[in-house]
Amino acid sequence: MALRDIVHEGDKILTKKCRPVEKFDAKLAQLLDDMAETLEVEEGVGLAAPQVGILRRVCIVCVDEEEGVIELINPEIIETSGTQEGGEGCLSCPNEYGIVIRPMNVTVKAQDRHGNEFTVKGEGLKARAFCHEIDHLDGILFKSKVVRMLRPDEIEGN
Ligand code: CO
Repeated sequence: MALRDIVHEGDKILTKKCRPVEKFDAKLAQLLDDMAETLEVEEGVGLAAPQVGILRRVCIVCVDEEEGVIELINPEIIETSGTQEGGEGCLSCPNEYGIVIRPMNVTVKAQDRHGNEFTVKGEGLKARAFCHEIDHLDGILFKSKVVRMLRPDEIEGN
């Protein structure tokens, strides 16, 4: 495994639409392993392949230590319900947080690293992370969806 460098806002790669994964090979497995390691070190809840410079429809979400990393290849949101309003940030936009309205519940259809299809449901933070990461695959940053940015004194933990 190896750490990958995070691409920051301003880099055009973050505005591009990613291509579907067609080959479920060792290179994909390596990318997923590296992304998981990078996410852990960066202490984020999600990471999308374009954030490490790869324009493929791959992202990972980890909101629950027990559940571990959820790997989503070619993900699609197939159902949403409810709404939530809350703070959101992004490893590509360090130290910037904003209020974004997202669905409260999301169902995602995706493939695993072997190409097998599955569906996964998320509520609350997990739903928010699914939406945020899948947006990255279409070149969308959370800042384009913020209701308003948070001031430093409003950010938890600061
Ligand atoms: Co992000």
